[in-house]
Amino acid sequence: MIVLGIETSCDETAAAVVDGDRRIWANSLFSQAADHARHGGVVPEVAARAHLEVLDGQIRAAMEQAGIAWDSLDAIAATCGPGLIGGVLVGATTGKALSLALGKPFVAVNHLEAHVLTARLSNDVPFPYLCLLVSGGHCQLIEVEGIGLYRCLGTTLDDASGEAFDKAARLLGLGYPGGPAIEKAAIGGDPTRFALPCPMLGRPGCDFSFSGLKTALRLVVEKLPYPLSEADRKDAAAAFQNCVARALADRTAHAAEIFSQRHGPGGTLVVAGGVAANGAIRAALQQIAEKAGLNFVAPPVALCTDNAAMIAWVGVERRRLGLSDSLDIQPRPRWPLSELKGAA
Ligand code: KG4
Ligand code: ZN
Repeated sequence: MIVLGIETSCDETAAAVVDGDRRIWANSLFSQAADHARHGGVVPEVAARAHLEVLDGQIRAAMEQAGIAWDSLDAIAATCGPGLIGGVLVGATTGKALSLALGKPFVAVNHLEAHVLTARLSNDVPFPYLCLLVSGGHCQLIEVEGIGLYRCLGTTLDDASGEAFDKAARLLGLGYPGGPAIEKAAIGGDPTRFALPCPMLGRPGCDFSFSGLKTALRLVVEKLPYPLSEADRKDAAAAFQNCVARALADRTAHAAEIFSQRHGPGGTLVVAGGVAANGAIRAALQQIAEKAGLNFVAPPVALCTDNAAMIAWVGVERRRLGLSDSLDIQPRPRWPLSELKGAA
């Protein structure tokens, strides 16, 4: 089973070839981050145009890297949502056109499902498992029981975790994308100098909230001399990152309890999405997993942030179950995991 995957839902234009033995033959990616950096965030129209310009080249590069003929592909998988609709349209339409021209099945991939299933591409993770999905647009704890079988245990009441990193970075004048910038700035910073509130800490349940933390950081920054000194910036970044890591760990610990009660001991905690690239967050989650008696799986950083290998992998998983989609399927800006059809 060899699948070509296409990803265009945000600011990465990517194409990859993956097979049923979890081998990544090619994983080509063009990041538009530099185009968006001066705006402090992704500009949808700029992104859509850039996807259109570079996607063909990315697909060609992936096929060349894989060194296989078009006819060797068993399916085409493309992100059909959720995401910025202009970009999603570019990738979905290209995927459908290839599927039609090659006479191969089309898999309309939900981008969130791709993040959630990535651990099964990088590692041998059986169902069921508990997944913390932390990306630019989402922050959810999900009980993963099979392909398309996702139960949400908790979600954010306001900002997504990646969004919180991006907004905090803007406040600190650290640029875009914010997550990697904050992580870098936090190295050597003192996380205890500024007292920031760790959101939802100790409260029951598995929901998240980041807007209060963002406001608290803004109030701290406003009291500091402008422009911020290097030391102020480092300490504030370290305090912010520390709070997010503690909040994520606290909520995940609750979800781990629920998960273990339902499925017994010895399960797996998986982290997914761009924020999973963060070392401090990985370390905090690793501790939670150890305490809860769960194995911990964090895919390599390049598979946590947006990429097309994870999209191709959903194609593999779904085709194995005989699933595919009609070319009539419409790209969707919003597409919650709960709306996916299950296949036990
Ligand atoms: O999964 P992703 O690449 O795209 C979405 O589907 O949203 O996630 C992007 C988000 C951005 O908000 C970015 O700031 C965050 O992931 N991110 C990080 C790190 N690397 C990326 N956040 C914290 N630490 C990082 N090292
Ligand atoms: Zn993503």
